[in-house]
Amino acid sequence: MKTHETYSIPQELLQKFRSPEFPGSFLLSFEGIEGSGKSTQLARLKNALEHLNYRAIVLREPGSTSFGEKLREAILQSKDDLNPLTEVLLFASSRSQLLTDVTLKELNVPNTVVIYDRYIDSSLAYQGYARKLGIKEVLEIHGLFPLTLVPHLTLYLRISAETSQKRQKIRNAPKDYFESKGMEFYQRLVEGYDLAETLFPQRIIKLDGEKNEDQVAFDVMNHVTKLLTQKQTLSNGNHPHFDS
Ligand code: TYD
Repeated sequence: MKTHETYSIPQELLQKFRSPEFPGSFLLSFEGIEGSGKSTQLARLKNALEHLNYRAIVLREPGSTSFGEKLREAILQSKDDLNPLTEVLLFASSRSQLLTDVTLKELNVPNTVVIYDRYIDSSLAYQGYARKLGIKEVLEIHGLFPLTLVPHLTLYLRISAETSQKRQKIRNAPKDYFESKGMEFYQRLVEGYDLAETLFPQRIIKLDGEKNEDQVAFDVMNHVTKLLTQKQTLSNGNHPHFDS
């Protein structure tokens, strides 16, 4: 298996990935393994942004278009063991369609924040690392526009594989395709996400998802507010060196 140390991704590949440029609008994503608290934090952030008079649009991956929902079912209810290349191609198709059908149109309306529940880093952690397709390979598959668009900020809620299993037990919901893969798979997912964070340190913010809900919400808001105010200042021409 490839380990952290053996991963070296060419700079020209990493540099293909850029955040969309729409004045006054932002693209965010939440990432993390099952039980990390994404859905709760996402709902709280949406609410907080609306109080700040932003249009906050929540999209989930895979899904959020009728085509995407069909793909979601095809993957997550699959009885066949799909190979990781098949998986990532399906996720990337859903992603590409959602970007052109919804995301880019919404971002074109000023004062909008589009918040994704999972995005490219799920493909890096799940297919690239845990399913062993390779991080570089997943990035290469995303090498064409609009798949080269990445969020301005990704909030990675980090919990351990053990915490994930405990929280899943409490929920006691039926397990889908990935959720039935077991402890070792979850440990690899955490490693995969940690690796993604080291590749995109400016974009991905690793937050301690083991903290209580209010503390995590505080941390999330802290980073989002920083982004919104930095960008505001940038568009006023005051911080030419800000690097998004
Ligand atoms: P979902 O029910 O949305 O999971 P969660 O509630 O934990 O977010 O199911 C999405 C599943 O698909 C989840 O197990 C992660 C997986 N996935 C990938 O493997 N690759 C991807 O690119 C995406 C977007 C999701």
